[in-house]
Amino acid sequence: MRGRKEARTAPCIHDVGELAASAAATTTAAATAAAATGATGAGAATGAGAAVAGAGAAVTEAGAKAAAGAFLSAGLYPLPGLFLRGKAQALTKLVLRKVLRPYLSLILSPVLHLILGQNRACAKHPEGQGKSKRQLPDQHEHLLCCRYRGTMNHWHTSTFWSTATALTPGPKIDKGQGDQSPEVPMPFRRKKISIIGAGQVGATCALMAASRDMGDVVLLDRAEGTAKGKALDILQAGAVQLFDGTVHGTIDYADTAGSDVVVVTAGSPRRPGLTRDDLLAINAGVVSSCCREIRNTSPEAVVIMVTNPLDAMTFIAHRELGFPRQRVLGMAGVLDSARFRTFVAEELGVSVRDVQALVLGGHGDSMVPMPRHCFVGGVPLTQLLTPERIQALVERARRGGDEIVGLLATGSAYYAPAASIVQMAEAILRNQRRILPCAALLEGEYGVEGLFVGVPCLLGGGGLERVCEFELDETERAAFERSVAKVRALVDDLSRLGL
Ligand SMILES: NC(=O)c1ccc[n+]([C@@H]2O[C@H](COP(=O)([O-])OP(=O)(O)OC[C@H]3O[C@@H](n4cnc5c(N)ncnc54)[C@H](O)[C@@H]3O)[C@@H](O)[C@H]2O)c1
Repeated sequence: MRGRKEARTAPCIHDVGELAASAAATTTAAATAAAATGATGAGAATGAGAAVAGAGAAVTEAGAKAAAGAFLSAGLYPLPGLFLRGKAQALTKLVLRKVLRPYLSLILSPVLHLILGQNRACAKHPEGQGKSKRQLPDQHEHLLCCRYRGTMNHWHTSTFWSTATALTPGPKIDKGQGDQSPEVPMPFRRKKISIIGAGQVGATCALMAASRDMGDVVLLDRAEGTAKGKALDILQAGAVQLFDGTVHGTIDYADTAGSDVVVVTAGSPRRPGLTRDDLLAINAGVVSSCCREIRNTSPEAVVIMVTNPLDAMTFIAHRELGFPRQRVLGMAGVLDSARFRTFVAEELGVSVRDVQALVLGGHGDSMVPMPRHCFVGGVPLTQLLTPERIQALVERARRGGDEIVGLLATGSAYYAPAASIVQMAEAILRNQRRILPCAALLEGEYGVEGLFVGVPCLLGGGGLERVCEFELDETERAAFERSVAKVRALVDDLSRLGL
């Protein structure tokens, strides 16, 4: 009873740093005591009982890990004393101590932590003291209990922590003087991806990012119910599809703080009766306000812009954020080339995996598919299809978005756009160093200065690592320049409208 009662006042996972720190001492003491009494069966039983009683206290003082250690010390080590003598006994004890104990402790400590201590809120935080997790608002729990962006819940966090402390202490985060939180091993820090706009594209992107275990996902929208409802729905999908990580819906930018990647999908889609200038003005306002918040809350993030008109919105985002060009990118080329690849694969009756394609220029009907740089299983497309068929596929890819709008009637594409965003975000979060076509700020590359235009980009941990330049032939150069002229006209419209 005592153990259980004391377990109720156990600290939350924040205190695991302390738990781990004192675990070694507690465990060693318990092991010594058990070894002293462990020569007889009665001694073993007493030792084990003491360890179980101690487990309750240990959850308060030193945590479940110490309890697990004590339990093993008292319950496991005396066993050889019952059946073996001399060298055989010493050898068995050595094997138990050096080999079995660390692994059994890893398994036992989260179990004990779950049973005895995990339902308590953070004892260190003023709001958390004396309250159970259920008495705290969701956000508090998320922010405090997942402080080091641990895993989905305490169960995972404690498991990770046990593993971390037992196997690799790792480099520590510099927390500053006032921060009393436990030291956090860097290798176990999860990435954070925030998605602004929980509409069709944003929510689908959140689902895909969560299901690929890319990190903790925050879904923000100005409509609170939309953000929270969709986030909860996605989280519950994880229980079936078995993906970890948090998915948090919110209207508060504070919840996005410290994001590694921020995706902006907020804005108004094209609607009947809305002129192009109207849309430009509405979305410019939305993007500006979102970017001001992102600049304050996630100053180190890589921002991926999605809101249309893409090239102009990425231009505004870069201006508002004030980030270097490495950390502001627009998503369009991955989607446009995915459309082109799909049509090529369909035409040839081959797997889309074996089709590589490149699309340059602005987003939409001015984009420039590059048939000369399209390969099917390593063979140039120009050797597989006639120029007329290739041109027909190029045209269909150019109008790929409109074709879907025409079919849906009430909205625009979102599955392929979301998949394209996630491919870019994953390349950055996992430092994959992929070459993907993205809208990047050109500083002289391809003869363009100061505009966001679709070009092949090397994406890695820092965002844009390099704009990849290659020779264009005369036709390609002319098409590219026409596309750049359209992007320039769009940006001029921004100044004309005073945006
Ligand atoms: N770049 C591309 O290739 C590409 C592809 C598809 C869609 N898009 C664009 O992405 C955008 C989103 O498309 P969608 O289909 O998801 O639209 P949607 O209408 O379904 O979603 C937009 C969401 O943004 C939210 N929102 C609006 N203003 C906001 C603000 N100030 N702060 C926070 N949230 C705000 C809305 O509440 C809504 O939930 C559109 O501009 C669309 O044209 C771009």
